[in-house]
Amino acid sequence: MPAIFITGASSGLGKATAKLFAARGWNVIATMRHPEHETELTQLPNVHLLPLDVTDLAQIETTVHRAIALYPVDVVFNNAGYGLIGALEALSDEQITHLVNTNLLGVIRVTKAFLPHLREKRSGRILNTTSIGGLIAFPLYSLYHATKWAIEGWSESLSFELALHNITIKTISPGGIATDFTGRSLQVAQNEAYAGLLEKLMGTQSGDNTVHFASPEAIAEVVYQAATEEKDQLRYQAGSDAVAIYAQRLAVGPEAFRQGVAAQFGLTADTSQSAAN
Ligand SMILES: NC(=O)c1ccc[n+]([C@@H]2O[C@H](COP(=O)([O-])OP(=O)(O)OC[C@H]3O[C@@H](n4cnc5c(N)ncnc54)[C@H](OP(=O)(O)O)[C@@H]3O)[C@@H](O)[C@H]2O)c1
Repeated sequence: MPAIFITGASSGLGKATAKLFAARGWNVIATMRHPEHETELTQLPNVHLLPLDVTDLAQIETTVHRAIALYPVDVVFNNAGYGLIGALEALSDEQITHLVNTNLLGVIRVTKAFLPHLREKRSGRILNTTSIGGLIAFPLYSLYHATKWAIEGWSESLSFELALHNITIKTISPGGIATDFTGRSLQVAQNEAYAGLLEKLMGTQSGDNTVHFASPEAIAEVVYQAATEEKDQLRYQAGSDAVAIYAQRLAVGPEAFRQGVAAQFGLTADTSQSAAN
């Protein structure tokens, strides 16, 4: 039975992926900050829970060793992450550092901890949940984009050296998913000087705009595809919104796409004052 190691398996995409792989006969090592609170995955015979806060380097090392002692790990799914919205001026250094430690350094450190094991096996796959926000940018998400774009570039570069050892790396970039992400996993920082823009942005992310969000189960199917197919492909956009918006960016080119986003928020040179107010 192949084995997958998942971070952030307490809810949303991580949990849906744990259930899908378990149902398809994989051994699943589902990690989360508080495994003592988990009641659903504990019912599944081939799911093993381990504690992991991806900002804790010592715990990463201990948990990866414990995982490898359980099963040879075939797939590492770096999924833990959260969102942060706000003008740069509104963000505290603590908010910036914690996001980078979680969404960026967490992925890098978990991957690094697994590499000796995968290299010794001469096989393995790293999957990273980025976001369509790792391939395009919207206003007031600068730090979130910084982490997700970073993982996209980092993964592409890493793919070359990992090929030496028959290890592959792929990114999954979902659009909207109906999870806790837009609730408890999304921090919003306010600053008066950017209040009008924040209001516009929040308006694009609520009510009817969320009804087309994909289910975590649908995105987990893309994770399964990325974990199992032999295609030489680095990036998997997941969800019809992500597929469409990335196709649009490629079709019009990055500059025209950026200008379109600016126009959508009334941020052309003539109207930037009105968006700020
Ligand atoms: N939902 C969307 O619209 C969307 C779109 C694009 C990309 N994504 C990405 O998808 C991934 C999963 O998010 P989701 O949508 O499934 O949201 P979610 O239901 O809120 O799940 C987020 C998971 O990350 C975990 N997590 C957060 N900080 C952690 C840390 N320091 N150490 C370990 N685990 C941590 C959470 O654990 P706790 O339960 O302990 O908080 C939770 O299990 C994230 O990387 C997110 O950026 C989501």
